[in-house]
Amino acid sequence: MALQRTFSIVKPNAVADNNIGAIYHRFETAGLKIIASKMLHLSKEQAEGFYAEHKERPFFASLVEFMTSGPVMVQVLEGEEAVRRNREIMGATNPEEALAGTIRADYATVMSENAVHGSDAPESAAREIAFFFSDDELCPRTR
Ligand code: TYD
Ligand code: MG
Repeated sequence: MALQRTFSIVKPNAVADNNIGAIYHRFETAGLKIIASKMLHLSKEQAEGFYAEHKERPFFASLVEFMTSGPVMVQVLEGEEAVRRNREIMGATNPEEALAGTIRADYATVMSENAVHGSDAPESAAREIAFFFSDDELCPRTR
């Protein structure tokens, strides 16, 4: 199985709660290597563009408001089946339904502030990585 990349965000609530390190530890222990990372405070335009697929949904305005409410960490994760693996350790979108031991179960309480984003497919991963990172910002591991 070839290495795959996925895109991830540590959302404003998790940054504010000082859970960046704990969440990065989850990635690393799950075999997902961080090959790019930066802190950003998203603009309204960035958040709207990133979540454009949801622009007709009733929660869109509150999602954009939340995602721009404070700094986030954006990162690219690389590993075997990285997209599926990351979704697995994130847990369900609604933290109340997320399995015990998942990131959303442990670092979030409500769906509107669910601690992390993770790409849902290889195609969205490629698009989302390119939204935030140029190729020369990615640091693939040699070991
Ligand atoms: P979605 O892509 O469906 O979930 P996921 O992040 O698991 O891929 O939705 C994007 C984000 O929108 C989700 O993480 C939290 C927010 N959201 C709500 O606030 N209310 C909702 O009913 C849904 C479905 C999502
Ligand atoms: Mg999604």
